[in-house]
Amino acid sequence: MLPEAEIIRIARDLLYNRAMVYYQDKPIGTLAAIPQKTHTYVEGRLKVVESGPDLNYQEVFIRDNVPTMVFFLLDGRADIMRRFLDTCLSLQSTHPQTAGIFPSSFTVDGDRLVGDYGQRAIGRVISVDATLWWPILAYVYVKHSRDEDWARQPQVQNGLQRFLDLILHPGFREAPTLYVPDGAFMIDRPMDVWGCPLEIQVLLYGALLSAAALIRLDLEKGCDSDLLVQKRRSQMEQVVNWARRLRCYLLKHYWVNTHTVQVLRRRPTEQYGDAISNEYNIQTETIPHWLQHWLGSRGGYLIGNVRTGRPDFRFFSLGNCLGAIFDVLSQAQQRALFSLILHNQGELIAEMPLRICHPPLEDADWRNKTGYDPKNRPWCYHNAGHWPCLLWFLILAVLRHQQGSSSDLRHGWLYLPMQELLQQSYQKLLRRLPEQKWAEYFDGPTGIWMGQQARLYQTWTVAGFLLAHHLLKVNPEDAGVFSLPKLGSLR
Ligand code: GLC
Repeated sequence: MLPEAEIIRIARDLLYNRAMVYYQDKPIGTLAAIPQKTHTYVEGRLKVVESGPDLNYQEVFIRDNVPTMVFFLLDGRADIMRRFLDTCLSLQSTHPQTAGIFPSSFTVDGDRLVGDYGQRAIGRVISVDATLWWPILAYVYVKHSRDEDWARQPQVQNGLQRFLDLILHPGFREAPTLYVPDGAFMIDRPMDVWGCPLEIQVLLYGALLSAAALIRLDLEKGCDSDLLVQKRRSQMEQVVNWARRLRCYLLKHYWVNTHTVQVLRRRPTEQYGDAISNEYNIQTETIPHWLQHWLGSRGGYLIGNVRTGRPDFRFFSLGNCLGAIFDVLSQAQQRALFSLILHNQGELIAEMPLRICHPPLEDADWRNKTGYDPKNRPWCYHNAGHWPCLLWFLILAVLRHQQGSSSDLRHGWLYLPMQELLQQSYQKLLRRLPEQKWAEYFDGPTGIWMGQQARLYQTWTVAGFLLAHHLLKVNPEDAGVFSLPKLGSLR
């Protein structure tokens, strides 16, 4: 194995010099995967050439740029993040049917930026997470760089307004969750994640808080007319109320531990009216038995989805880590989540942290719910594959939690084993990623095999690794980078 310092140097070089995309001669983001050089015969002579276009992996994805931008921010390059945010903002849709949405990815075509809002995507899936990530990243940028003037610019405030107009419109449902079709986030293929998937709900929570805080910054400036200020204040109240209702809803309907499962299993069904316990008419048979081992006595987590009669008890790593990072979960619930991860490390960490979701859809479920998707066979890709780009989210969640805990807790039963687990996980990335060419994902129940169709030199694998290194080895205090405004502070 190369020395650690050399691996870091290589990763930084990949990120800054190979993955960077320029627009008008300025860096604006990174592409999803770095194109590979291949050997080809040209006119009878062996030449090294760049591989040709590879689906959309040479585009700048908003979600893939989350780790990249956070790394740039912590690495003293807030200027790149600012340009990325501005570029995305210039692509926010103003089309009547989709006004307010951000593209899942975009590309530079000469002096033009071209966004993909789903109209070119495989299966024409729409990405909702990109739109929710933008206000969160904008808040993180402003808080860390203290560039409040950026947030007060009319084009930024107008962008936030378009975002809120998109979210706050009247609809058919009363629930505070956002209803989306299949494959609307990181899992961008059919995986039975339609309805109210966790990742979207937690991002919505973060986006509402972030948008409210950024609008408040502008209101504090106090130059608008009284009428306008009043209107914006009452809208902010609506946003904060929504966030509050959403958090209560998630804790009520998505949070499970051994106690709540036992309550769920004994609820009556076929209830009608206001004061009932089983609002979504969930039959006990939908609660899987594997939960018993999975939860153990101390574990808890947010389930994958709540839908009428069809809850999804799968564990989704990113949604749960974000639930901790954004404080949807209380401190005690965060500890229950970490305890669950520790308890199930053989599944979730294994040879390549982290598994994206657990358990996989198998047999008839795989056939019917993924539509025979060969890329998403059990234990592969999104269907319980292992994604190194996810580890830093767990590291961030744990460090952030520890930094906010009392010293009693810091020395308690959970933290030492958790620290050890994170260190071991980082060592796994260090040992395996350079050797396996920074692959996008890994397959199989232990994640030992490089993903069958994984791209190599995947940028968020590289950025996620650099962040893991930064948070564990360089500056653990930076785990506060994703601390969003507290609900209570946004009155
Ligand atoms: C795949 C992943 C998606 C990612 C994209 C670019 O489509 O499913 O999450 O954003 O590749 O890396």
